[in-house]
Order: sequence, then structure tokens, then C-alpha cells
Amino acid sequence: MTSATLPDFPWDSLAGAGQTARAHPGGLVDLSVGTPVDPVPEAVRNALASVSDIPGYPATHGTPELRAAVVEALRRRHGVVGLVPDAVLPTIGSKELVAWLPRLLGVGANDTVVIPELAYPTYEVGALLAGAGVLRADSLFALGPQRPRLLWLNSPSNPTGRVLGVEHLRKVVSWARERGTIVVSDECYLTLGWDAEPVSILHPDVCGDRMDGLLAVHSLSKSANLASYRAGFVTGDPRLIAELLAVRKHAGMIVPRPVQEAMTVALADDAALATQRERYARRRLVLTKALQDNGFRIDHSEAGLYLWATRDETDWQTVNWLAERGILVAPGTFYGPSGSQHVRVALTATDERVAAAAERLA
Ligand SMILES: Cc1ncc(COP(=O)(O)O)c(C=O)c1O
Repeated sequence: MTSATLPDFPWDSLAGAGQTARAHPGGLVDLSVGTPVDPVPEAVRNALASVSDIPGYPATHGTPELRAAVVEALRRRHGVVGLVPDAVLPTIGSKELVAWLPRLLGVGANDTVVIPELAYPTYEVGALLAGAGVLRADSLFALGPQRPRLLWLNSPSNPTGRVLGVEHLRKVVSWARERGTIVVSDECYLTLGWDAEPVSILHPDVCGDRMDGLLAVHSLSKSANLASYRAGFVTGDPRLIAELLAVRKHAGMIVPRPVQEAMTVALADDAALATQRERYARRRLVLTKALQDNGFRIDHSEAGLYLWATRDETDWQTVNWLAERGILVAPGTFYGPSGSQHVRVALTATDERVAAAAERLA
């Protein structure tokens, strides 16, 4: 059975703490999962509805308008130049792509996939689904003479909020090019820089004027509140994208046409993006102060959707301490062994729930 080759689904182990937190008289403040709670922008909902009467199959490659909107948004928002619309491929949210990318690219049993020390669990799942080996490493030094087939980056990071600087990214790109390693940069939190400016792997300061061997994975779940729509895309090296497109066409991995329309509008709406950023910025300040004033230290967290917090005790002790106060967070070990003294606190709760959490911590 394939599922037997995969790790236990981590969230199941949080059920006990969830029960404790839900019993709080003031109700649960759920800061465990990074699931958006704010409205879907009206223009996006209208776009979805406007093409609800198209009976035919959509294109796996997406509409030309969607691909053009991606190229424009990456140029405007992140300074990515030289991207061709053909090298854009919509995905059904980014989790499915993360889980299947190694398999789709033909990574197999004799290959190694490198993932960050502390990482979104699906990178490991994707390597295991391809039958490949997994190595956790943040430094190229740790990899020695190895030639991994694929290396994941995630800046800003889930769970730590750490941002990788231009110099670091350049080093990874040149190291990977020498070895023929594909670098895949998960950039789903790229629009959420607070104390640092996140940079795309496809920015000319990082990759020059060549995108060969590089892929950037994006999601509209957090930037446009579209988690329920399942809306993402992958872009970068035109040859790798053509290969992914060829396989995904066979496999029926197609973004529904109404979602393609919604994505096109969301990618053009920088005002909605700014509004959402402000909401998260406010909640981040409230939660940061409440945690810091009450015995927590916050590490990294200069960008992204989470606070990486510690009380210098085990992650589960902190999870349970917060659960007693009706606040549910994720233990650091969900993301890797080195998370054993941290918890991940999501900024994705309403202003009212965030205020309730701050009050209970005081
Ligand atoms: C680092 C990272 N990558 C990818 C995803 C997947 O997001 P989605 O499938 O909603 O696009 C998440 C979701 O939380 C994430 O944290």
C-alpha cells in the first residue's frame, strides 16, 4: 500500500490538544493551520461566476490570459523579467504539484531530493511518492560531493519565516548548475515580507538571464484568499515546464476553467493583495507582542504567515500550555526534528480571535 510508505499524517496527533483548546469557555482560537479566514475579493468571485456556463474541457496549459497575467504579476510584484507565457503552468493549488513534482519529472529510486531542515511536510511526501531518497539540509556544505536530482527551497519559509538572501540564492543556483540539480523554489509566501524583502529564484539578481534548471512554485491560497479554489502555478525553465505540461495533459491534472478566470483577475489585483497584507501585518504585531510579553521568544519570522515561537521547552509542552488557554498551534516537530523546541503560530485568524488570544496570554 502506498500510504504505508508515507509518514503519519501529522495533524491527526493534534486531536488531543484540539479537544483541550475547544473546551475553553471563550472558545477555540485556532492558530494551528494556515487557512485563510478573510473574504474572497468580490471581483474574483464575479470572475469565477462569469464563466460558469462553459461546458467544454479547459486547457491544461490554462488560458493565454491567465499565463499573461502570471508573467505580468511576477514582473510587477517581484521584478522577474524574461519569463515567457508558455513557461507558465497552472496547478490545482500548489500542494498537489509539490506532492507529484518529483514523480512528474521522472525522479526515481536512485535519486536524492534535498529538502530544508525544517520544511512543509509535502516535500518529503513528494520524494517518497517518487520512490526517491530524502535528505534534510540547509547548507550546501552539508551535501558534500553529492549530486541530488532535485533541491527544494522555501523562502519565506514555512514554518520558520526565514528569508534567504540574494547571495545565498545565487550560491545555490550556481552550485546546482554545476551538478545538474533542479532547484525548485516554493514561493507561496513571497508577497508576505515584513522585516525582510523576499526574492524570487527567477529574479535576474539571482539567476542572471537564464532560468534553466529552475522552477518557482506559487499559490494564490494565501495571497488572494483562494485556498478553497485550489489555485496555483509553476513557472521558470521552459523545457521543464513543457515536460510537466506533457505529463499533466495525460494525467488530467487540469485547473477548472472558472478557477482559471478567478486567478487571472486575482493576479491583476494588487489593491486586494495590499489589503490582505495589512490584515496579516496587524495580526502579526498583536500576536508578536502578546507572545513576547509572556515568556516566548520569536525566532526568524521576518516574513511569511507564521511566528516561530519558543519557551525553551519541548514543542509539545508549549502546545499543551497554549491549549489550556484555548489556543491551538502546531508543534515544531511536524516540520522536522530540529523543530523540537518551537511551535508554529499562524496569523490566519480573525481580528476578534487574535485579540482573544492576546487577552488570554496576558
Ligand atoms: C510552504 C507551502 N507550500 C505549499 C503549500 C500549499 O498551498 P496550496 O496547496 O494551498 O497552494 C503550503 C500550504 O500551507 C505551504 O505552506
